[in-house]
Amino acid sequence: MISPKIIFLLCVVIKTCATKNGKTEAKSSECVDRWKGKCSKLWCRLLPEIMKNRCPRTCGMCERNECFCEQAWLGWSECSATCNGGVRNRSRICGAPASCGLEQNQTQQCNAIACGIWSPCSKFCGTGTRMRSRDCADIKGKCPPKYQDCNTTPCPSMTCPRGQVYRYNTSSSCCVPSLTPFKCGSFKLDSNIVGGTDSKPSEWPWMLLFRMGNKQSVNFVYCGGSLINSKWAITAAHCVTSWIYMPQHIRIQAGLKKIRGNGGQVSYGKRVVIHHFYNGVAFDVALVELETPFILASNENIDIGVSPICLPKGESTPIDAHCYAIGWGAADPFNVLISQHLQHVRLRNLNLSVCEHAYYNDSKSGFIDTSFLCVGKLSGGADTCIGDSGGPLVCQSSSSCSWYLAGITAFGSKTCGAPGKPGLYTKVEELEVWIDLMVNSNSTDEDFIFADQPGLS
Ligand SMILES: *[C@@H]1O[C@H](CO)[C@@H](O)[C@H](O)[C@H]1NC(C)=O
Ligand SMILES: *[C@@H]1O[C@H](CO)[C@@H](O)[C@H](O)[C@H]1NC(C)=O
Ligand SMILES: *[C@@H]1O[C@H](CO)[C@@H](O)[C@H](O)[C@H]1NC(C)=O
Ligand SMILES: *[C@@H]1O[C@H](CO)[C@@H](O)[C@H](O)[C@H]1NC(C)=O
Ligand SMILES: *[C@@H]1O[C@H](CO)[C@@H](O)[C@H](O)[C@H]1NC(C)=O
Ligand SMILES: *[C@@H]1O[C@H](CO)[C@@H](O)[C@H](O)[C@H]1NC(C)=O
Repeated sequence: MISPKIIFLLCVVIKTCATKNGKTEAKSSECVDRWKGKCSKLWCRLLPEIMKNRCPRTCGMCERNECFCEQAWLGWSECSATCNGGVRNRSRICGAPASCGLEQNQTQQCNAIACGIWSPCSKFCGTGTRMRSRDCADIKGKCPPKYQDCNTTPCPSMTCPRGQVYRYNTSSSCCVPSLTPFKCGSFKLDSNIVGGTDSKPSEWPWMLLFRMGNKQSVNFVYCGGSLINSKWAITAAHCVTSWIYMPQHIRIQAGLKKIRGNGGQVSYGKRVVIHHFYNGVAFDVALVELETPFILASNENIDIGVSPICLPKGESTPIDAHCYAIGWGAADPFNVLISQHLQHVRLRNLNLSVCEHAYYNDSKSGFIDTSFLCVGKLSGGADTCIGDSGGPLVCQSSSSCSWYLAGITAFGSKTCGAPGKPGLYTKVEELEVWIDLMVNSNSTDEDFIFADQPGLS
């Protein structure tokens, strides 16, 4: 097969348009053979595609006296506004310049329907949520409301009473430090996550790195997790479901500062307990008993940098509370690599209905129920990402300064940190009875692990 190595420009250069009998026509003004002396009608017949560019005059390709478009209209663009009137465009590619009178772009009004009015902001300062709905019907017959961050300016500073300290990274909210600092959720005063900042070593001493694989091959799944006591770790069920029968291939590291660094403590799984309500989406939580317990920090052993997180103990995370998600996940949604350093990011607990609407089109949206927390930043730019699964979402207790495990990183938008797409976290508050039962008693977990587990054999 012969194929041209050189691409010649189309010789039919339409330079002008002329109106003849009320019809606009293109007039080609330049039509010359570029392969001078070698053009022949025979070649035109044998290789028409190639020759029409090289020998258009000889091949009789010069007379093109009409305006034409090479392409039909493309679909309309998305409307520039969801209400109060926007515009949308469509375009097509035409062979002749637009001066020929052929439209190449069209603009149309759309979504002329009036916007609802914004609800009052849920907070006066320090970032709240506002919402507006509108009366319309999209394809599924519902029109999703729009949610936005509002009143983002920090709240005025306050002076904490004697014996109290500021909550982490605020100057407007105080708490009383726990008297037993190493019990759980230690607060250190000197102390993939998108938009995160590097955590200081041991700032989050319950943070665990899970690497799943088998001992022969390279480790190939990374997840986060939290230490709840020296013998038990908590993570997302989807991280460990494939390792229920080989918990010894789950490698767990505590007190780790750099992902590839040495240091810290290593243990392996001894037993995996998946929540019996886990259905692939909801109740995405698992407990992993450790083969060798971790050595915990104590007053005599402060530098060990490993201590457990508190459970909520009935504490319900208020809407608008700022909490922290911690992980080694991707720090940039366009560069899906595990972060070298532990990251944390400040996120706000949002009304669950924000997530219900944000994931309305997602097949999983039907599963969004009260077993989740919806947490993020509506303006985007801060989120957990690939590799953060199983890691902790921690909030500070309303009375003490201790951190408690409010959520476990579960799932969210593919483009981490996309505006209006917060993350979904397994809510720990209602799991506490189950956790206590598994961790503090010698009850056999057979009834819990394998009952109602679809797809396990
Ligand atoms: C439509 O086209 C105009 C001008 O060409 C442009 O300014 C505008 O951004 C486009 N709108 C959309 C929704 O693509
Ligand atoms: C049509 O729109 C495209 C991009 O939106 C632009 O590049 C082009 O110049 C426009 N054509 C005309 C004739 O306005
Ligand atoms: C501290 O809080 C401010 C907002 O008050 C936020 O912008 C900043 O990212 C926070 N810093 C950390 C380390 O979380
Ligand atoms: C969450 O949003 C729903 C629907 O907008 C509302 O009815 C409910 O009161 C909100 N809950 C809280 C705690 O703000
Ligand atoms: C859901 O899908 C429809 C059609 O694809 C789209 O018009 C609408 O904006 C989507 N809604 C959300 C919340 O993404
Ligand atoms: C669990 O079993 C161990 C020994 O097998 C025993 O020492 C411990 O007291 C038991 N704990 C409970 C809560 O029954």
